[in-house]
Amino acid sequence: MNLNNENGETYDRQSEVKAFDESKTGVKGLVDAGITKVPRIFIHPKTTQNYSSISSVNKPSIPIIDLQGIHGNVVEAVGEASATWGFFQVVNHGIPGNVLEEIMSGVRGFFEQDTEVKKEWYSRDQSKRVTYNTNFDLYTSPAANWRDSLFCIMAHNPLHAQQLPPVCSDILIKYSKEMEKLGGVLFELLSEALGLHPNHLKDIECNKGIALLGHYYPPCPEPDLTLGTSKHADNDFLTILLQDHHIGGLQVLHHNQWVDVPPSPGALVVNIGDLLQLISNGRFKSSEHRVLASKNGPRVSVACFFNTYSVPSSRVYGPIKELLSEENPPKYREITLKEYETHFLEKGLDGTSALLRFSL
Ligand code: OGA
Ligand code: NI
Repeated sequence: MNLNNENGETYDRQSEVKAFDESKTGVKGLVDAGITKVPRIFIHPKTTQNYSSISSVNKPSIPIIDLQGIHGNVVEAVGEASATWGFFQVVNHGIPGNVLEEIMSGVRGFFEQDTEVKKEWYSRDQSKRVTYNTNFDLYTSPAANWRDSLFCIMAHNPLHAQQLPPVCSDILIKYSKEMEKLGGVLFELLSEALGLHPNHLKDIECNKGIALLGHYYPPCPEPDLTLGTSKHADNDFLTILLQDHHIGGLQVLHHNQWVDVPPSPGALVVNIGDLLQLISNGRFKSSEHRVLASKNGPRVSVACFFNTYSVPSSRVYGPIKELLSEENPPKYREITLKEYETHFLEKGLDGTSALLRFSL
């Protein structure tokens, strides 16, 4: 298939994408080979690059919530942040600092291990529980991202250490258990913030599935031409993200402006996913976000997604009945997670909301 890139130049994009995929060495492989220019399959049109960026005066920033909650009402703070930003950072979350450090170095170690060993994990087979690849939507997205990823479905069926890459298996299991605990706390707070029984979201199994996604963003020679992660909203109920302490680059779209989510050592970023926006009937916002490419790197992040990927469930999710009224009729139709996921994967990170398909 021939496509024009933004210079109007015609080239066989599909075969360049395929050659890149078949190398199995990802973006890191390009950087290791010493490239000094961004290959054209990664070049994004200028329009998706530069939204209005905000001035430094009166810069808004996402709320920081102390989960120990001695100051003020935690439930209220979580509810307010989820309804306005869809994003907040949490501190005093109970996860020891050494566990955060170990998961970062474990994920980094995966990408920086011997290439031949790493290649054995390379796959786009969505039925596998553990895969490493670059750009899950490589063949469908308009432009590729400057990022490689490791995807592991950790729960609800527990994964054995032998099924995981040896360089990071122990810490993936340990971190996943911490995420399960923190996820439980957050889903209770979110339930209460919706005016529901604290167990409501857990009872409907929002916390049941856990996938860990370790991202590796190599340094980029021409960061203005591409993106680390294109604009998207998350395909889950909730995401807990640990980002590198130094590099930054994560931005959330708030009132049509890109707002930086500054790295804050020891803090975790929490954001509402599409599925929680749907079941809260739009009260909680699944905000779009992206990651800029940078000359500095590698930047490593670990995202924990609460969603039952690959576990067939017949459960149907729609706006929670208790939240609906004559003044607040359902905004979305009922869906199965499978139906949503199939649509999300087909669509890829094309800059549009996967929820549009299910809006009433
Ligand atoms: C994601 C995501 C941000 C990051 O995995 O969905 O938005 O900082 N990651 O890597
Ligand atoms: Ni995301």
